[in-house]
Amino acid sequence: MRRTFSLLLSFVLIFALTACGQSAVSEKQEIEEQSDAEMETEPSESVSTRGQEAEVSTKTLVVYFSCTGTTELVAEYMMETLGADIYEIVPENPYTEADLAYYTNGRADQEQNDPDARPAISGGVENMDTYDTIILGYPIWHGQAPRIISTFLESYDFSGKTIIPFCTSHSSGIGSSADNLHVLCSDAAVWLEGKRFEAGTSKETIEEWLGSEGIKSVQE
Ligand SMILES: Cc1cc2nc3c(=O)[nH]c(=O)nc-3n(C[C@H](O)[C@H](O)[C@H](O)COP(=O)(O)O)c2cc1C
Repeated sequence: MRRTFSLLLSFVLIFALTACGQSAVSEKQEIEEQSDAEMETEPSESVSTRGQEAEVSTKTLVVYFSCTGTTELVAEYMMETLGADIYEIVPENPYTEADLAYYTNGRADQEQNDPDARPAISGGVENMDTYDTIILGYPIWHGQAPRIISTFLESYDFSGKTIIPFCTSHSSGIGSSADNLHVLCSDAAVWLEGKRFEAGTSKETIEEWLGSEGIKSVQE
């Protein structure tokens, strides 16, 4: 009788331990399944992050002024990289070699010495309203943007648009050249930090800069 009782007791104990073990296993499974499920939700969060990035992408116009092709090449790299539109600021009265010879008191020197100089532009951007972002490129002339850039900025309403300046130069940095342009536009224009590129800057460098600044473009 006692033997039967102890056999029965051992059976009950074994059963209880097994059941306990199983519930511990299923708890562990539950936790694992839960964390798997949490991990699965992460990509959808990053999808929504990507969605936000897509929202800040805008329709971009690359605008440039260039007399000897340096700024033009950089602008074209930007246009190609972004799939953006491009517009060249063409002076009504083209600059000759003599006009551009600096420290000769030639035409370019004289314009830079006169804050009110506004060289006329031939043609214009017809559909400026459709652009959210303007990338604006110019050569440095005596530390500043050429006065024709002032003509351009005063010709349109840039309210609500983002303007990203860049320049090329022989050796000068962008300095105060971009900051000094802000006053020519509505306060509602948003100016980003500008960047100077040297002659011969590669397309890869331009791509890297656009990427590092998060500059994208959605063209319609
Ligand atoms: C009138 C004039 C003034 C210039 N002043 C400067 C200057 O202050 N600093 C500088 O590094 N380069 C200066 N440069 C050189 C140009 O900025 C440089 O060659 C530029 O890359 C030319 O661009 P582009 O080929 O697009 O016209 C000047 C050029 C001209 C014509």
